[in-house]
Amino acid sequence: MLLDNYAGMGYNKNSIRERREYPMSELIQKLKTTQNLTDSELKHLLETDAYDAELRLAADEVRRIHYGTDVYIRGLIEFTNYCKNDCFYCGIRRSNRCAERYRLTKEEVLECCEEGYALGFRTFVLQGGEDPYFTDERICEIVSEIRNTYPDCAITLSVGEKPYESYVSYYNAGANRYLLRHETATAEHYSRLHPSELTFENRRRCLFDLKKIGFQVGAGFMVGSPFQTTENIIADLRFLQDLQPDMIGIGPFLSHKDTPFCAFPNGELSLVLRLLGILRLMFPKVLLPATTALGTMHPQGRELGLQTGANVVMPNLSPLSVRKKYMLYDNKISTGDESAQSVASLTMSARSAGYEIVTDRGDAKTREK
Ligand code: 5AD
Repeated sequence: MLLDNYAGMGYNKNSIRERREYPMSELIQKLKTTQNLTDSELKHLLETDAYDAELRLAADEVRRIHYGTDVYIRGLIEFTNYCKNDCFYCGIRRSNRCAERYRLTKEEVLECCEEGYALGFRTFVLQGGEDPYFTDERICEIVSEIRNTYPDCAITLSVGEKPYESYVSYYNAGANRYLLRHETATAEHYSRLHPSELTFENRRRCLFDLKKIGFQVGAGFMVGSPFQTTENIIADLRFLQDLQPDMIGIGPFLSHKDTPFCAFPNGELSLVLRLLGILRLMFPKVLLPATTALGTMHPQGRELGLQTGANVVMPNLSPLSVRKKYMLYDNKISTGDESAQSVASLTMSARSAGYEIVTDRGDAKTREK
């Protein structure tokens, strides 16, 4: 019902109803039944809006087969915005002198978990910049304490590229999941988004190491990042087919005023939604978040995402005092439904889009037979 007036993108209720009377196009049928397309078919699908309405219907159908109407929630704790990296797109890059830096103490992180647990969260995501203050020892200390206090919860880390041994120590301390977007799977494109000390090769190494160790792994990329081509996106899809992650996080590139990419245009909502639909059909059981960036770019972005195959939302559990400081891009939403404190209103907006927030751990079904 939210989408009655969402014309121009195939989201109009009537146009969907009309289309339903026609057989599904061969292209979407093929993607749905074989979970694959050729490169040239993908290129065609990515570059037209002609299939958007039926893609949404097919993605929603597949999502309902595996996950019903369930939407999993993860409490996001952004525990440090110090970062030693200098990614050209990111608002917390080390060269951004305007960023006001902060770190949460272990006690503060645990308070976030306590509040989150009371609100129904059973997954905590500890995300931060690559902050040398948080040595493996400090990270493991925080993880162990959360593990001991909340044995029924999943602990997700998102702290960037580390050596194999560091990942092993996090896993042994009790972390179960790790998020590390690959950002782009084309080495040449990777080098246009990052300084030369960061390589796609190491990013890839990290993701495969994490999988090998036993983490449930999340990868993903920005849609509409500077210099991105359709071929780059196809390479991202192929990389994901190779990696077989448990979660895929995508959202629009959104420019940040104090970065080298300040003048580049934002990614497009329609392409993010088209990709969510494609990902749901290519990876039927994957966890697919309706990301904060998607919610930032359109007031109903998250609901639209949920209606196009997404089945996870990650509200912010960080203390209000620091929330505005974790500014990866301009205008990042940090209150309202985005905040973990509004689980009730999140429940209502998910419900109005046809889904139900659930509070179990929501492990990926990617590993089930
Ligand atoms: N726009 C959109 N997403 C961004 N990220 C970082 N900077 C931006 C930006 N300007 C994403 C990256 C990173 C995740 C934590 O946030 O993909 O992996």
